[in-house]
Formats: sequence, structure tokens, C-alpha cells
Amino acid sequence: MEESKENILITKEQITEKVKEIGHIISEDYKGEEIYVLSLLRGSFIFAADLVREIKLPVKIGFMTTSSYGNEEVSKGKVKIINDIPDNISGLNVLIVDDIIDTGITMEFVYKHVKKLGAASVKTCTLLDKPERRKAGIAPDYCCFEIPDVFVVGYGLNYGDYFRNVPYIFNWN
Ligand code: IMP
Ligand code: MG
Repeated sequence: MEESKENILITKEQITEKVKEIGHIISEDYKGEEIYVLSLLRGSFIFAADLVREIKLPVKIGFMTTSSYGNEEVSKGKVKIINDIPDNISGLNVLIVDDIIDTGITMEFVYKHVKKLGAASVKTCTLLDKPERRKAGIAPDYCCFEIPDVFVVGYGLNYGDYFRNVPYIFNWN
């Protein structure tokens, strides 16, 4: 698998700047409070790692794995919990962090799950948003970049489990 620099959609520098900005906004919005960041694996591990370092508040971090597309580019429309939240999140301010909201089915599922577990507040944060593809009635509270309906990889996003380590985001065709 070879990466192609010709199709760069979002550069490393653009990501760094935007993550800093979103981290600052989150820090302001939650001022005086604590946040439980729920990072959805595997796609958001790099974004979440960078984002939490830009949040200047007490933060706890947990991970959850849901079923993904596998090697397919099309959503199966069903979400399964592979690894559930490892902590008691009752009464906490939960910020769900994912790499991309596509159909929105994953984020909607996790949102409802977190609510059911008794979180005091639930907000969503995504690196990328593809609003054109939305099927579920969910919009992110925080979003770094809106993108058109193209398949992208890099900075945590994968194709065939490759490219997560690429520090920028590019079109995969
Ligand atoms: P949704 O449930 O359709 O919103 O899908 C969300 C998940 O689909 C993301 O967390 C990604 O794992 C995957 N996904 C959607 N679009 C892309 C893409 O363009 N590149 C890589 N993964 C994607
Ligand atoms: Mg994912």
C-alpha cells in the first residue's frame, strides 16, 4: 500500500492548528468542570491524543470499541460493542471523540449508550464530518473539518487498516 501525497486534503499543519483551536473552545465551554473524554477506537486514537493535550482542564480518558466497516467503504448500518467503556460514567461530563461522522449511525449509537449509563452531560467531537452522507439525526457539537463525500485516510483513519500513521489526511480512491 502506497500513500499518495498528491491527494492531500488536510495538511499536518492545518490539523495542528485546528485541534489547538477546538481544544481551546472546549476548555472555555467546560470551564470549572471536569471532562471524561471517550475516544472511539481505533480511528480516533491519534486525534484524541492530540486533542486532550489542548484541553486545559482536569480530564479522564476512556476508550470504547464498536464494530467498524472492516475493509469496506460502506456502512453496514449496524453497530456492535466490541469493548465497552471501562469506567462508571454516571454523573460525568462525557465528550465522545471520533475520527469521522459519516452516516452518523456510530455516533448516534454511542451517544444513546452514554446517556443510558447516566452521564451528567454528553457532547460529541469529531475530527471530520461528511454531512452529505448523514442518515442518523446527529450533528457534532465540535468539528474540526467538514469534508465532501470522499473516502479519506491518514491521522488515524484507515483503509484495510493501513495509513493510520500518516500525519496528514488524504483522498483514497
Ligand atoms: P458512520 O457510523 O457511518 O458515521 O461511520 C463512522 C465510521 O466509519 C468512522 O468512525 C470511520 O471508522 C468510518 N469511516 C467513514 N468514512 C470514512 C472515510 O472516509 N475514511 C475512513 N473511515 C471512514
Ligand atoms: Mg471509526
